[in-house]
Amino acid sequence: MAKNAKMILDRAFQISEIDDRIYGSFIEHLGRAVYDGIYQPGHPLSNADGFRTDVIDLVKELNVPIVRYPGGNFVSNFFWEDSVGPVSERPHRLELAWKSLEKNEVGLHEFSKWAKAANSEVMMAVNLGTRGIADACNLLEYCNHPGGTKYSDLRISHGQKEPYGFKTWCLGNEMDGPWQTGHKTADEYGKLAAETAKAMKIIDPSVEFVVCGSSNRAMPTYAVWEDQVLTHTYEYVDYLSLHTYYGNRSGDSNDFLAKSDDMDYFIKEIIATCDYVKAKTRSKKNMYLSFDEWNVWYHSNAADNEITEKHPWQVAPPMLEDIYNFEDALLVGLMLIVLLRHSDRVKVACLAQLINVIAPIMTDANGGGAWRQTIFYPFMHASRYGRGVALMPVMDVPRHDTKNHADITDIESVSVYNEEKGELTIFAVNRNLEEDVVLTTDVRSFEGYRFAEHIVLENDDLKAENSFGCEKVAPKQANEQTALEDGKLTSMLHKASWNVIRLVKSDR
Ligand code: AHR
Repeated sequence: MAKNAKMILDRAFQISEIDDRIYGSFIEHLGRAVYDGIYQPGHPLSNADGFRTDVIDLVKELNVPIVRYPGGNFVSNFFWEDSVGPVSERPHRLELAWKSLEKNEVGLHEFSKWAKAANSEVMMAVNLGTRGIADACNLLEYCNHPGGTKYSDLRISHGQKEPYGFKTWCLGNEMDGPWQTGHKTADEYGKLAAETAKAMKIIDPSVEFVVCGSSNRAMPTYAVWEDQVLTHTYEYVDYLSLHTYYGNRSGDSNDFLAKSDDMDYFIKEIIATCDYVKAKTRSKKNMYLSFDEWNVWYHSNAADNEITEKHPWQVAPPMLEDIYNFEDALLVGLMLIVLLRHSDRVKVACLAQLINVIAPIMTDANGGGAWRQTIFYPFMHASRYGRGVALMPVMDVPRHDTKNHADITDIESVSVYNEEKGELTIFAVNRNLEEDVVLTTDVRSFEGYRFAEHIVLENDDLKAENSFGCEKVAPKQANEQTALEDGKLTSMLHKASWNVIRLVKSDR
């Protein structure tokens, strides 16, 4: 017999207007993300610029408003000048982060063109590992200054008359990590980031900055890093970055699905730290968060070590090619729910990454087409139906314990209300692996709305994967699982399932 859960939704329980950039993603010069990913001249599905049109179509299905570029760890030894000008004159370089060979066939101009074709903005990162203030300023002058100066004229001479006008800039990447080229202490990085932001703001006052937070919640300098870095930068930056990747290394799926709660604690702790610095510096402004790397990442770890240790300096080696299974899709759905529940502070988020490298979209390594991983679907649903105002549900749900997490909710949920479109969408995961749950939702404040559809992602096998030409994990319509009567919505949420329940205004 199914368990029962209750929820109240009210249009007054508003968390925040959701910033569309919460559905951002990330493309790094890493593995087959760029080469053989977005760019594959000679492939039958590539356009005249060498871009894979099937990949662009899938990115458009995900509707990704912003893409972080060009790294990641890659950016910490990135010489942007190598990536512009005639392609035949661009140097081949040793890429230190991933021990690959970078031929610079795709650079700033090509990537911007790709992003435009994919309906995305570019979120540009500057190298604060091996470089500093001057190079960051030169890059900004190249990208955003109209003309009449050394670097803006260089851009024009490279065929781009109009400035790119990139708005959101990352001040380096994971600078607290010993693996980072040019790794720094919080004090060293904080001073450099503040001075870089100040100088860049003189060139283009319209830009916004993301300063590096900890690489993850387990870093030894966690929270102290944020305090020290923000103490230097609070008045000059707009967002603090958070990164996290989870994996099911122990094989305990119950515990794996509880890890979205760790993400929730992570965000709450970082908000507290930001607000502490706000108090300490008597600042009037709020620090917002850019969760610019999040995903599941662990399947490919052993294969990646083999490549970097035994076969370094390859062009586009197949690195970080996690093949995701059904339980990974459930965790991605749970992580999306956490992000939306914090949409008052998380304004930017980037699913890391987008193509081939820990990605929702893969391209067949043998020259075939592009295909959708399991995690593609919860992201697509959230991006498609999750625009508007996030609503905080009041929930009374059954709970369970896992090995490392006590008192975990069976059901996690958030709703998004779009008044203009006349739509209310409930996202819900049943992370109980044994039992179905009947969720009764009070939606009386949405008078005049009708039930539109219930979409479900489920599979008997938590380890089911998709592959090129074979989608074992794909969403289905399950309208028989929900009914609306007298302002009460009754939904059957099967064990281990991702659910999207949509209500629309009756006149639509
Ligand atoms: O996304 C893969 C890598 O993970 C990024 O380059 C780095 O920032 C993080 O450690």
